[in-house]
Amino acid sequence: MPIDLDRYYTPEDVAVSALERGVFPFVPKVCADSTCGSGRLLDAANTVFGSVESIGIDRDVEAISQLRLRRPDWHLSVGDLLHPSTSGTLHRRQSVDLLVLNPPFSHGHKKFVEIQFAGKEMRGSIAMAHLLRSFDLFQPSLGAIVIAPESLLYSETDQDARQALAEDYQLTKLADLQRCTFRGARVQASVVQILPGGHQQSHQEIRHYDGVIQARLVRGSLPVHLNVSDPSGVPFVHSTDLKNIVAAGKIEGLSKTGNVAKGRTKGWVILVPRVGLPDCQAVKAIKLEQTVQLSDCVIALEFSTKAAATKAEKRIHSRWLEFKGLYRGTGARYITMARLSLWLPVIAVSPNHLLNS
Ligand SMILES: C[S@@+](CC[C@H](N)C(=O)[O-])C[C@H]1O[C@@H](n2cnc3c(N)ncnc32)[C@H](O)[C@@H]1O
Repeated sequence: MPIDLDRYYTPEDVAVSALERGVFPFVPKVCADSTCGSGRLLDAANTVFGSVESIGIDRDVEAISQLRLRRPDWHLSVGDLLHPSTSGTLHRRQSVDLLVLNPPFSHGHKKFVEIQFAGKEMRGSIAMAHLLRSFDLFQPSLGAIVIAPESLLYSETDQDARQALAEDYQLTKLADLQRCTFRGARVQASVVQILPGGHQQSHQEIRHYDGVIQARLVRGSLPVHLNVSDPSGVPFVHSTDLKNIVAAGKIEGLSKTGNVAKGRTKGWVILVPRVGLPDCQAVKAIKLEQTVQLSDCVIALEFSTKAAATKAEKRIHSRWLEFKGLYRGTGARYITMARLSLWLPVIAVSPNHLLNS
């Protein structure tokens, strides 16, 4: 097989057992492979998790053409992950639960490549470059199962990239593969699980929950100092109001705003402060009978039913220290929408990624 096309496909049995070793808080429903080749890892995902929505990209035109014939229902595209401009822009279509990856390992004559990830510039191996680019593109809520050269876990070349990844994810080696696993190549490869939850939450254990809860995340945007009070306006919720709202079980005595800004919510919600540490008593499911405007210091998790909201409340309280650990910062502690979205799947809450809302 021509080396330059990287057609070192994962044997079927290896792909299945790699995915079987993963531990997840809920069963993935949408899987993506950004270097899918002949589709072995996505096939394995369909075997292990039941029928999943499958998204595949590869720069190898022939491999994608054949896969389109074999799997007409998959979302497949030809694209170069590291040079998107040469083959059209790669777009993230929808939220993805899990990445399944066996990226190219070989460098040719290069020792490293330049990588941009999480706003930082770094150097790393070609496998790491593919991995981080795929995380950027798909932002998988359950992380990834990756077949990677062992060096990705230990080498100096990938140290900076590992550190950047560890801010929000945990890397665990699940197994070592035999050197003869890939036809035509002798490499030491490992199966690695990358789970949301950075080094501050490394004590996190995987528990199984009964059912996935859908939540819509809404971030308030109105700064208190820009609030124009208007008695006929909409109730305005600031983080200092959260305790009282939960204690009263309703919105009473709140000031009203005449401003129209992003971050309005209504119905079954859990309101959490964006800035400042949360108070366990105040993080509770409540029903907002009318629309409120959230200040830029409040985030709402919206649910479609009371049952979903109260179940989510219980799950958050059962892992309170981890939840509190999401609030970081050297001065005032704060949580980001991205950090919250990455953690929620750990308690089997599937967030609607409205990161810019
Ligand atoms: C080791 S194979 C793995 C294929 C498949 N994921 C599997 O496990 O069988 C690597 C794949 O990466 C593809 N590839 C290499 N460089 C790429 C790039 N820059 N963008 C997209 N695909 C790439 C190759 O065409 C090849 O299909």
